[in-house]
Amino acid sequence: RRSWAEPYKIKVVEPLKITTRAERERAIAEAGYNTFLLRSEDVYIDLLTDSGTAAMSDYQWAGMMMGDESYAGSKNFYNLEEKIQKYYGYSYIIPTHQGRGAENILSQILIKPGDYVPGNMYFTTTRLHQELAGGTFVDVIIDEAHDPASLHPFKGNIDLQKLTDTIDRVGAARIPYISVAGTVNMAGGQPMSMANMREVYQIAQRYGIRIILDATRAVENAYFIQQREADYHHQTIAAILREFCAYTDGCTMSGKKDALVNIGGWLALNDPELYEEASNLVVIYEGLHTYGGMAGRDMEAMARGIEESVQDEHIRARVGQVEYLGQKLIDWKIPVVVPIGGHAIYLDAKAFLPHIPQDYFPAQRLAAELYLEAGIRTMERGIVSAGRNKETGDHYYPNLELVRLTIPRRVYTQAHMDLTAEAVEEVYYNRDRLEGLMMIHEPKYLRFFQARFALK
Ligand code: F0G
Repeated sequence: RRSWAEPYKIKVVEPLKITTRAERERAIAEAGYNTFLLRSEDVYIDLLTDSGTAAMSDYQWAGMMMGDESYAGSKNFYNLEEKIQKYYGYSYIIPTHQGRGAENILSQILIKPGDYVPGNMYFTTTRLHQELAGGTFVDVIIDEAHDPASLHPFKGNIDLQKLTDTIDRVGAARIPYISVAGTVNMAGGQPMSMANMREVYQIAQRYGIRIILDATRAVENAYFIQQREADYHHQTIAAILREFCAYTDGCTMSGKKDALVNIGGWLALNDPELYEEASNLVVIYEGLHTYGGMAGRDMEAMARGIEESVQDEHIRARVGQVEYLGQKLIDWKIPVVVPIGGHAIYLDAKAFLPHIPQDYFPAQRLAAELYLEAGIRTMERGIVSAGRNKETGDHYYPNLELVRLTIPRRVYTQAHMDLTAEAVEEVYYNRDRLEGLMMIHEPKYLRFFQARFALK
C-alpha cells in the first residue's frame, strides 16, 4: 500500500479559534513580532515547538491517576527509573523538571572554567549552561550540516578530523566530555549515524574522554538509522536506541519531546561517583533525587510515554507526518532544509527572502508573516536564536537562517498539514513585498524568547 495512517484514533478534542487578518495584525504587533510572545488563544495551528505539546494516550492519562505524591521514594519514580534503564540502558537516573534542569546539573559537575566542550552543533540552552559553567563550546559537526541543500543522509554526524584536531589543540584534560545530540535540532532535526557514533566512541576511548548524549530526540534518531543505515533495516527502534546509548556515558533528556509528555526530563549517568555528586546538586535546584521537580503523576506519564515512544509503528507515523508536509513543500519548490528532519520542517529564510540582509532578521520576519497569513505559529532558528559571542559581543551569524515548522506528536491531522503547506505557498508567492525587522528590545540571555521587534 502507498498510504500510511496514524496508529491511534482521537478520543478527546480541543476546539481551535479562527481569527481574522485584522485580529492577527493586532496580536503580532502587540507581541513585538516575536511568535513566543503571542497568546496561544490567538493561534490556529501551533507549530512553535514539539516540546511539551504532545497528546498523551489514554494509557498515560490513566497513569496520571496513579500518581504517588509522596515526598520521597514515590513508586512512580521507581517505575520511571526501570523504564529508562530498560530502554536507554543507563545505570543511574535523576529526574529533573525538564531538559535544561539536567543540563544545569551536568554542566556544574563536569565543566571547569577554561574547559572546552566539542559537540555536533549547539543547542541554545545546552550551550548556555556550558558557558555559564565556564566552558567554551566547539562545533565539530560535519560541514554538510551548515548547508541547507546538502542531501547527506546523516547531517548530524561529527567530523572526526575536527574532533581530533580540537582534542589535540586544547588537550584531552581540558575536555570534560563530548556533547553528542541525535537528532540535531539546530541543523534541521538531522540524524547521526550509528557508524559515526561508534567512531566517536572509539576516539573518546582512546583519549579517555566521556561522551554525554542529548537524548531529547534519540528515538527519532533511531528511526533514521533504521531507515538509512544498511545494517539496521531489520532491527527494532528499541534495539537501535539501546545500542546508540551504549556508546555514551550518560545523557540529559527533555522528556517533553520523544517521551510524549507535557513536562519532565532526566539526567542519566553510569559512573556512581558522578551520580553521587549529581544527586547532591539536584536537591538544590530541582528537588529530592526521587522527584527532581516532577509530580509523581508526571513521572508515571513519562514512564508510560517512554514505552509508547519506542514502538516502531508510533515512530513511523510520527516522522512520516513530518515527511508528508516536507515533501509537499519540496514538490512545490519552496526552499526547505533537506533531507526533511525528524520533528520539523525548516524553511530556508535566506533563500526564501534573499533581499533581506541577515541583520534585518529574515527568519523572524518570515515567522511573523506565516502567523499573519493563516494564524500558524512557527519559530525563528537563525541569527536571533544564535545570540551574541560572549567575548566580542557581536551577533553570531549562523549559516542557517531558518524558520521551524515543528510538528507536535499525535496532535494535528493530515488536513492541518495540507492547510499549512498552502499557507507557506501563499507567503512564498508574495515574498518580494516583505521587508525586514529591527530589534527594539534585547534580553541578555536566550534573547529569542523575549526579544521585541518593529517593522523596518
Ligand atoms: N536539547 C534539545 C536538543 C532541545 O531541543 C531542547 C529543547 C533541550 C535540550 C532543552 O530541553 O526545553 O526541556 O529544557 N528544545 C525545545 C524546542 C525548547 O522547542 O526545540 P527543555
